[in-house]
Amino acid sequence: GGGKLNPLMRVQKDAAEFYHRVLLTTKAGERGMQYAQKRQLDQKVLDHFNIGYAPKEDNVLITYLRGKGYQDDELAKSGLFVESKDGRLFDRFRDRLMFPLDNENGRTIGFSGRRISDDKTEAKYMNSPETEIFTKSKVLFHFAEAKKAARSEQHLILYEGYMDVIAAYKAGISSGIASMGTSLTDDQVYMLRRVTPNIIINYDGDPPGVHAEERAARMFNKAGNFNLGIVVLPDNLDPDEYVRKYGAEKYRNEVNGAKTPTEFFLERLAKKYNLNNDREKITYLNEAVKEIAQVRNPVERDMYIEQLARNAQVSPDSLKANLARELRRNN
Ligand code: UTP
Ligand code: MN
Ligand code: MN
Ligand code: MN
Ligand code: MN
Repeated sequence: GGGKLNPLMRVQKDAAEFYHRVLLTTKAGERGMQYAQKRQLDQKVLDHFNIGYAPKEDNVLITYLRGKGYQDDELAKSGLFVESKDGRLFDRFRDRLMFPLDNENGRTIGFSGRRISDDKTEAKYMNSPETEIFTKSKVLFHFAEAKKAARSEQHLILYEGYMDVIAAYKAGISSGIASMGTSLTDDQVYMLRRVTPNIIINYDGDPPGVHAEERAARMFNKAGNFNLGIVVLPDNLDPDEYVRKYGAEKYRNEVNGAKTPTEFFLERLAKKYNLNNDREKITYLNEAVKEIAQVRNPVERDMYIEQLARNAQVSPDSLKANLARELRRNN
């Protein structure tokens, strides 16, 4: 609290408070509240994440903000409105559940709105456009809060979506953040590194999610000095769906059982080959050894080699010889 807020951030704060109040206290918000209930978002969650509702009716927000004394030239820069050809402003978000997106100090700088209607021609989530204060590639949902939680939980957990961060929060994990979709950026990797080296990646269990986990893991490895865990949920479930289906305790067990990146890569690799075919098996083993050669710790490398030998039913010595060759090649 206290201090003077940047005028661009003040609009976002006023809008967030307005949307939140509409959801919790108004007749126009009942539609939003019905959806919130369907998603099992209780009062505590709605407050913690400051979730709101942008009503269905036209121009409710702009009317409110003009009434508070904002000028249209200020409002035009907020990203909260779309401008018609003749320069008139209209509410951008309508009939959406509103998730405020905050900077790392917890100041709201933009929004993402979840469609609540069944109209699939509309985007599921609509985000604020880039503005002077909102750069999508540098935003991590729930980052300010998760940073605090990371002090006791000792890690950050990276999710795809807002609802996953919220599901984790309900399951007692406050260190969840989301990269807003599956494409993690270098800026976000850097933001995380400043908080903790311990990152658990838990994207959706569907093929795009697992593929994105692979991409994210490579990015963290490239940046270096991270200690990664990777969770792959069964049956294509995302974390929110998993918690609903199996409960909080089972979910926490999944997190505690996160795989190392090498385990994750080796399992992914094994699925690409028909290991009953000798030629494919040889290619697989060569690729697997290359993967293991990336591991810095020699004890860990040995562990993976032994494991690989057991699983593939070949002698560890021959794999070790290949590993030695691979290590010489890398140096
Ligand atoms: P998902 O499609 O996995 O959505 O996209 P979700 O998080 O499970 O959402 P629910 O449960 O259907 O409500 C993951 C994330 O990708 C971004 C959002 O950040 C979303 O949370 N996304 C997705 C968009 O920005 N726009 C979209 O249209 C869809
Ligand atoms: Mn509240
Ligand atoms: Mn997804
Ligand atoms: Mn999802
Ligand atoms: Mn979901």
